[in-house]
Amino acid sequence: MRHPVGDPQPEGDDPATDALRQTSDQEWPWIQLESSNQKKVSDAVKISEVRSLVQLRKPEPDRIERTLRRCVTIEDLQHAAWRRWPRSVRGYVEGGADGEVSLARNRAAYEALGLVPSPLRDVTEVDLRTSILGGDSTLPFALAPTGYTRMMHPDGESAVARAARDAGVPYTMSTMATTRLENVAGEVGGDLWFQLYVWRDRGLVRDLLERAKASGYRALMLTVDTPVTGLRVRDVHNGFTIPPQLSASTVLDMARHPMWCARLLVGPAITFANFAPEVGRSPEGLMEFAAKQFDPSVTWEDLAWIRGLWQGPLMVKGLVSAQDAARAVEVGVDAVVLSNHGGRQLDQVVVPLQMLPAVRDQVGDKIEVYVDSGIRRGSDIAIALALGADAVLVGRPYLYGLGAAGERGVAASISMLGDELRRAMTLMGVTSVAQLRAEGSALVRSLPSG
Ligand code: FNR
Repeated sequence: MRHPVGDPQPEGDDPATDALRQTSDQEWPWIQLESSNQKKVSDAVKISEVRSLVQLRKPEPDRIERTLRRCVTIEDLQHAAWRRWPRSVRGYVEGGADGEVSLARNRAAYEALGLVPSPLRDVTEVDLRTSILGGDSTLPFALAPTGYTRMMHPDGESAVARAARDAGVPYTMSTMATTRLENVAGEVGGDLWFQLYVWRDRGLVRDLLERAKASGYRALMLTVDTPVTGLRVRDVHNGFTIPPQLSASTVLDMARHPMWCARLLVGPAITFANFAPEVGRSPEGLMEFAAKQFDPSVTWEDLAWIRGLWQGPLMVKGLVSAQDAARAVEVGVDAVVLSNHGGRQLDQVVVPLQMLPAVRDQVGDKIEVYVDSGIRRGSDIAIALALGADAVLVGRPYLYGLGAAGERGVAASISMLGDELRRAMTLMGVTSVAQLRAEGSALVRSLPSG
């Protein structure tokens, strides 16, 4: 008589049973494969004995938990999000401008660098806490502003803000948010920053600033790399619009993602929630309204104007050169975010990471310097800090978490990056953010290309 070991399971559901399946009969003579997907245990072994060898995992009833259990890295979250998003949403998140050269180079720049560890140091305690723009953060990174966030998941900006608050890191609300800035501040709180575009309608800009201040946003981030929107070729090919418009191909795309469609339909309409009345009064659609508001006439004078209006910490995002960083110091900003907008604006622009050492040399300790675009792992954060950043920003990594599993997915993305950074620092022989920054470029080497 033979005793089956549990129910036959599809491969990949349980690592322990998968491992047994992959073990040959010769190595485990009492296990015989009777069919391709079923195994039986010989008379010689009792169920209780097998149980002590193999832990059978109970099926997980919670779908989100099931998804998250399979996700170990940001890349896993990315793939889980891809399964849930229609092609147009995936294209919007992933896409870069024009030929996507910058998008690819952002990643390649990190991968072309090697870390130089110093073992034989006591790394029992590794402390990732740091101060960012005068506020305490549990981790040396903040969540970057991203627009249209309720397209990725109906809980949108509120879910992201809750995960950031609970993890103890700053979150930047975008001008292009799909949830009102007052709602996120009032219902969630945390260390909230507000990202601003200087739009043509300066009255609207002043109004947004006052609302952000009144709602308790601690810091302001002015994004300056968007005098016009970059050409995102994938969006054009996919017919991506806000709100989604139906055509033969988008209907097909949506039909393949019924869950995403159902959630979109039951939730409040997707709009630029921070200026919904203005959009409502405008004769054009949402995207045309936004595109027309980007103002190519914005200059350093506007930055000075904003400095005058905002008394709290001010960052300027989207500079890359040392010269511009020096000018930003003169205007009185508190930090610069070296960024190429995740490769979404000017294509073939330099990678911000490559400019970081020169910017740091130029500005010294007068202001803080952050960097974004292409960070996907804890080791990338270690590299950026060692090369002179006070902190980094991440964009797509938390959107993958959001798309995969809502708020819990965002929380997973933050803890993955934190855990990876902690492990990298432990293996490097570095126990604090301050030490990582002090040892600096001695910890990083460029690798020969090719
Ligand atoms: C962005 N980014 C962005 N930046 C900004 O200042 N205002 C915005 O509204 C948006 N919107 C936005 C949407 C999406 C889908 C993405 C991916 C990015 C740029 C963002 O703040 C950040 O600079 C990049 O995302 C950083 O690159 P990684 O981390 O995505 O590689």
